[in-house]
Formats: sequence, structure tokens, C-alpha cells
Amino acid sequence: MREFEGKIIDESRQGQATIIEHTEKSNGKKLYLESYGCAMNFSDSEVVASILAKEGYQTTNDELEADVILINTCSIRDNAEQRVRRRLTNFKKRKQQQPGLIVGVLGCMAERLKNKLLDEEKLVDIVVGPDAYRKLPELITEVEGGQKAVNVLLSREETYADISPVRLDDKGVSSFVSIMRGCDNMCSFCVVPFTRGRERSRDPETIVKECKELFENGYKEITLLGQNVDSYRWNMTSKGEIKDASKPTVNFAQLLAMVAEIHPDLRIRFSTSHPKDMTDEVLETIAKYENLCKYIHLPVQSGNSNVLKRMNRGYTREWYLERIDAIRKIIPNCAISTDIIAGFCGETEEEHQDTLSLMEEVQFDFAYMYKYSERPKTLAERRFEDDVPEEVKGKRLAEIIQLQQQHSLKKNKQYIGQTHKVLVEGFSKRSKEHLSGRNDYNVKVVFPKKQAKIKDYVMVKITDCTAATLMGELI
Ligand code: SAH
Ligand code: SF4
Ligand code: F3S
Repeated sequence: MREFEGKIIDESRQGQATIIEHTEKSNGKKLYLESYGCAMNFSDSEVVASILAKEGYQTTNDELEADVILINTCSIRDNAEQRVRRRLTNFKKRKQQQPGLIVGVLGCMAERLKNKLLDEEKLVDIVVGPDAYRKLPELITEVEGGQKAVNVLLSREETYADISPVRLDDKGVSSFVSIMRGCDNMCSFCVVPFTRGRERSRDPETIVKECKELFENGYKEITLLGQNVDSYRWNMTSKGEIKDASKPTVNFAQLLAMVAEIHPDLRIRFSTSHPKDMTDEVLETIAKYENLCKYIHLPVQSGNSNVLKRMNRGYTREWYLERIDAIRKIIPNCAISTDIIAGFCGETEEEHQDTLSLMEEVQFDFAYMYKYSERPKTLAERRFEDDVPEEVKGKRLAEIIQLQQQHSLKKNKQYIGQTHKVLVEGFSKRSKEHLSGRNDYNVKVVFPKKQAKIKDYVMVKITDCTAATLMGELI
């Protein structure tokens, strides 16, 4: 296991190009759009491609034939930004060979660095923040006219609710749907509130409509996305007051039910839950609907209450463990994964041991694990010193990863002998004779293909496993 940039998106998809269906008249120009970071960014890239497709741009997965190259970026940790910088430096060289090539940076790094990539470093022609994608056509026209173009305004309203991208990933099985944008939580380590702006929820009718369309187009699985899905609220203020009494209010549990009722064959996942906000009502809704996956990603970050306080997470170790108990009680056999940060400011050896003991207590099915990376402008950068030496961070992370490997293997071993419903997503990486999909618990299952096809739901008897994958036979 290694550090991932953003959850759900596995490492192999970092840098992937977005390709969408093209229905408008072509303007003769090709767009190459590459994405990094979390699922939210990949979902946004589809919105961006849709906006530009309306102007006649055709998406390509060959950067060499592109007239416009856009790169949708992530700022979550320093190494995420370094990777994008290397990419941009490459494109800069390309520009020397291909004058007229337009290169733009989108997403969180665009928002964080604003004019810097353009004026000081002269790496790109366009800088566009996550709330300004509707302006992209105009900005590209400005660049074609010889100017440099920047729009990094954040919005309190923009949710791109009306844009339902026509996706063309290679398989058409599983899709992301954003239900909200931004984050108001201000965890002290996190750059997201600065790069994504204030939290706002998307109109539930447009969410259900998009999910229905995806299902009608053959998609079988949808992942609802938000930085903190538990604070999804429609027609309600953050204090829970009703905004417009003539209209219904919708919270996350109700939204889950609305999407679950579209069709029993549409499987639904969501990310990310927040321990301080996750309600029993949400858990009861998951228990009620067979097609709501029995899998919750509940980032803990640390097992020590003082560290959690410095992180401004809004809960204690005890509160977190109580939420885990609630999951276990209301949804028996629910898989639980988490995020953990090693070596946050001031973290002592005892505090680190509390993270390990919490892991022992919970026995997570899976975890995304990171070394703390100080981010400019965050509360932690202003208030605390990044004082855990690099080698100590490394050692603690290694201990966390090693323990998690044991737990993941143990969990997977418990599945041997059981039969799981698997949605077939594609061929196994190793062999065309094997198919690969995921079970309800979000674990990858590989099995000999026989008569099964991509997009089928199949029953697989689990016969063997590693810490990351289950192997089985069709029944
Ligand atoms: N709201 C989302 C956050 C996305 S960031 C969520 O809770 O899932 C995903 C993860 O990256 C966080 O949970 C955290 O574990 C990690 N992370 C965020 N900022 C970090 C930093 N400065 N250093 C190391 N890891 C960080
Ligand atoms: Fe960042 Fe915290 Fe918001 Fe997640 S909940 S995006 S970690 S500030
Ligand atoms: Fe990265 Fe921005 Fe997502 S910082 S993790 S792309 S919200």
C-alpha cells in the first residue's frame, strides 16, 4: 500500500485523460484534459469537457494531437503539486515546438497559486479555478487573441447542477455524481476550504435526474461525491432553518433514499462521510435499501483526542468509536475504511500509539494513509510547527501501513467461503480470461470469466485472497 492522492481514484488513474461523447458540430479543435487528485476533480473534468464540447471541441486521449491541453490539478499534499509541476514543465517544452498550443491549469492548484504559474513561472496560458469553468470558452478565446487569461473567483452558488456530462469512459459501468461543492469545516491541516470555497449543496432534482440518465445509459453504479456528504442540505441553512417554506427540505439520508429508489439494479456508493456529522438516520437508510452499498469511508485522521483537537476535526476518539459502534449495530457486516495522517504537528510517540490502538480496536477494512504535509495558509501552518522530523513521520507511517495490511488481510480471509454479489467492471489486469469487479464492501474480486460479461451482476464464491483482492469462482 502506498500514499494515494485522493480516495476512490486509485493511483493508476492519476493523470488519466477525460473523453466524452461529442454531439455538437466540431470546431476542428482537439482538447486533451488530464486529471489529478480526488474523485471530485475527475467528476469536474467531465463538466469541463461538456462545456467545451458545446463549443465544438473534441476530446482526445492523445496529447500530441491537441490544440488545447488542460490539466486539472490537486493541492492536497506537496508531492501532488510537484507531480503536476513536472507535467507542466514538459508541456512548456512542447509549446516551443508547437507555437499556438494552449496550455491551461484548472482545479485546486490553479485556485491556490492564482497568477503565480502564469506571471512568475510562465508555465501556462490559462489559470481557472474550480468555480469558473463556465468561463473557459471565453478565456480560451482571450488567449487565442494573444492575452493571458485568469479566473479564480470562487462562488457561493455554482454547483454545475444543469450540466450532465455524457461520459465515455472505456466501460460505462460506474460513474461519479457530485452532490455538493466546497467545504466549511476548516480542518487545520487541509487546503480544500481555500481551493474549493464555501460549502453548497446541489438541487436534489438535478442529482436524481442525472443518476436516472446514467442508469438509462447502462451505468450500474453511482458514487455520490462531496467533501462532507453528511452536511448535504437542500432548502436549509447551516443552522437547520428552512429557507423556503413552500418547498421540501432534503438532507443526506433523504437524498440517499431518493437515489436508491431509482432502480434496485443501480448500486449506490458515496464519499466522504464525516464522523462529527454522520447521523443514525443515514445509517438506517443504508440498512433499509439493498442497493445502498454496505461500505462507509469514515476518515479518522488520528486516534488521539488532543491531536484531533489540534486538527480541528470536531470530534474526540470516544465520539469516533461511538459512531463505529452505531455502524456495527445498525448495519451488521458493514465495511469501514478510513484516512490516517502520520506525524501531524506536535504528535508525540504516545499520540501515535493511540492511532495504532484505535486501528486495533476498529479493525478497518481498508485505509488511505499519509505523512502530514504542511500546506500554505492553513490553520496548522499559521498556528503550529511542522516539528515531527521526516524520518519519524516515515517510521510512523510505515507502522500504520503495516498494521493496516494485517487487518485488510484478516478481513479478506473472513470472506473466504462466502458468496458475494459482484458488479463486473472489466477484465483483470493480469489476464483476459479473468474478470474483475467489486463486491458490496468495495473489495476487488477477480474470477475466471466463463459466461459473465462486463456490467453484469454475478454471484461469486470467494476461494482465496490477498490483503487487496479476493479471488473466486462464478456460481
Ligand atoms: N473531506 C475529504 C477530504 C479530502 S482530502 C475527506 O474527508 O475525505 C483526503 C484526505 O487527505 C484527508 O482525509 C486527509 O487524511 C488527507 N490530507 C488532507 N490534507 C493533508 C495534509 N496536509 N497532509 C497529509 N494528508 C492530508
Ligand atoms: Fe478538508 Fe476537513 Fe473539509 Fe475534508 S472535511 S475537505 S479534511 S477541511
Ligand atoms: Fe486535491 Fe482539490 Fe481534491 S486539493 S484532493 S483535488 S479537492
